[in-house]
Amino acid sequence: MADIKVGILGAGGIAKLHTSILKRDPRVEIIGVADIDEGRSASLANEAGNAKPVKTLEELFELGVEAVYVTLPNTLHVDSVLKCLENNVNVFSEKPMATSSIDAAKIKEAASKSKGIYNLGMNQRYAYVFKKVKDVIASGEFTPFLANIKLNRGELLNPSWTANPQVTGGFLNETPIHLLDLSRYLFGEAQTVKCEGRQNISETEMDTFAIMLTYESGIISNLVTYAHAGWSFPFESMEVYGKYSTITTHEFDRVMYSPGLHQPAQVSEFFQVGVDHKWGYVEENRLYIDAILNGTQPLVTAEDGYLTTRLVEAVYESAKTREVIDFRQTLSK
Ligand SMILES: NC(=O)c1ccc[n+]([C@@H]2O[C@H](COP(=O)([O-])OP(=O)(O)OC[C@H]3O[C@@H](n4cnc5c(N)ncnc54)[C@H](O)[C@@H]3O)[C@@H](O)[C@H]2O)c1
Repeated sequence: MADIKVGILGAGGIAKLHTSILKRDPRVEIIGVADIDEGRSASLANEAGNAKPVKTLEELFELGVEAVYVTLPNTLHVDSVLKCLENNVNVFSEKPMATSSIDAAKIKEAASKSKGIYNLGMNQRYAYVFKKVKDVIASGEFTPFLANIKLNRGELLNPSWTANPQVTGGFLNETPIHLLDLSRYLFGEAQTVKCEGRQNISETEMDTFAIMLTYESGIISNLVTYAHAGWSFPFESMEVYGKYSTITTHEFDRVMYSPGLHQPAQVSEFFQVGVDHKWGYVEENRLYIDAILNGTQPLVTAEDGYLTTRLVEAVYESAKTREVIDFRQTLSK
């Protein structure tokens, strides 16, 4: 008999991945899968084992789910997450938390009152390469001063809604939001935000961004992100510079820490490890189930989701106005 009855809301690509991980956790039983597309809910319910395919969140509640994974397209997260929290049901929301800070604030408020535990799906925090960056900084032996970050998306073709900013909330709410969350996680809260943005290929939105952040810690970072690069590699990398020292990541496959002049670099290679582990999804799910069972907060809280949403908004604001945004002052409003 498993400890937690889980329902999945949205039976698409990422739901398939979470399902494949959750079904290997003996503490979890997936009892329902909901999707407006009956073929998809039936197929994933079948993959999950003994789950019932249904159409709505309300039907998942009727089945008696204790935790719901909200894996719908971006702008559909908020209503379902709020319903879960209002019903004291644990909820794992895929990113983004919300596509406006007004909605993010509603979730933050609801999470603070609910008995249900909220977790935001920022899996990259658990990726092996970024855990190494975090550990080296946290150990105190490496003090970062500057970071150069790149995140390119190959296309906005699959799923097709990713090209529609009415559904994504804007390209930055697609994969780039992971790097903004990671930046906060690794370097602390932002102090100022400056962005140059352009609309080059997309017919509907900005798709080209150079984002410069300064942090309360004194660190500076530059994040370059572009929506239509094609899948040439590396599409994601981070270089962090300290005193005669650097730490660099290459996709989720390789991290190199060069601790000082004339010293051997420490290289870890993960290219042989499965995506479910090296992109952080296995640990993300395990720790979320731990948090539910222990009644503790997971690593990525509603407060994190709220602050990252505010940061995304500040980047868009700077791209639009071409002004430097005083982020700390913006937060106090
Ligand atoms: N953390 C990550 O690495 C990661 C990776 C991919 C996607 N995501 C996020 O996960 C979410 C889902 O992305 P995806 O790629 O799986 O999308 P997808 O299009 O493959 O799946 C979404 C599913 O939701 C269903 N759906 C849409 N509206 C619905 C409704 N009103 N009620 C019930 N079902 C509905 C669709 O039929 C589809 O099966 C997005 O928010 C995306 O940003 C996160």
